[in-house]
Amino acid sequence: MIEASGLSVAIGVKPIVSEVSLKARAGEVTVIIGPNGSGKTTLMRALSGEIPYAGSIRMNGNEIAGTKLGQLSAMRAVLPQATSLAFPFTVREIVRLGILDGRPGGAAQSERLPELALERVDLAGYAGRFYQELSGGEQQRVQLARVLCQVWQPVEEGVPRYLLLDEPVSSLDIRHQLVIMEIAQDFARNGGGVVAILHDLNLTAMFADHVIVMSGGRLAASGARAEVLKDDILARVFQCALKVNALPGGMVPFVLPQTACSGAP
Ligand SMILES: Nc1ncnc2c1ncn2[C@@H]1O[C@H](COP(=O)(O)OP(=O)(O)O)[C@@H](O)[C@H]1O
Ligand SMILES: [Mg+2]
Repeated sequence: MIEASGLSVAIGVKPIVSEVSLKARAGEVTVIIGPNGSGKTTLMRALSGEIPYAGSIRMNGNEIAGTKLGQLSAMRAVLPQATSLAFPFTVREIVRLGILDGRPGGAAQSERLPELALERVDLAGYAGRFYQELSGGEQQRVQLARVLCQVWQPVEEGVPRYLLLDEPVSSLDIRHQLVIMEIAQDFARNGGGVVAILHDLNLTAMFADHVIVMSGGRLAASGARAEVLKDDILARVFQCALKVNALPGGMVPFVLPQTACSGAP
């Protein structure tokens, strides 16, 4: 489990995340939603151990501020919101960086891992291509393959590992949005933990076991999908009239805007 309590992050003197407490469990997909600028990325960077914080963040019981980077890298892999590259790396070289960061197992497995990871993100045959010559969506999937290589086994020696994904499907077509979210769901079903920031409320409704809503740097709501994806909570946080619809027969709910959003509902 990743457990934050009383977590605050300031950049300079400006508070960006204030007093957030949350639990992201192994075996579950936890989705963070919230408007632009609400602190989602900053929260995830703190959870991944990239930036200093006040309060507490424990990953599998260890306070991450006191955990060495090598140990953290074996426990969690992070897909940043945007990744720019100045050098002409091939796809294989980028994906292999994940192996160097993590501890994927034996050498034989490491050799095949980039190709296996690329296949999973639907990029079989891309290993020799230059990253910079790919489309934005293809680049995003290469980065995901890199991250998957880092924590290929969701559980290692009985200890769960975590995927932290900042807007992993923001540039993807609908098929690849589903491919990537299914990879995340599989990772969780096999015992790992996933924390993903999403803007798409319908993907959230389909894939989230647990939903965390950020607003103005604070936790606005947190709970099971059905407790959080509610008209009043979404309208308040996103400042826009939204209707959560349920179809008969237990299908996943879907969210539709009610009017053009020109202000508060
Ligand atoms: N390095 C930084 N320096 C100054 N302000 C920052 C920095 N990073 C983020 N912020 C500010 O913190 C707020 C939250 O940003 P962010 O966590 O990226 O939000 P989100 O991911 O929800 O869109 C924004 O107002 C942003 O301008
Ligand atoms: Mg962000």
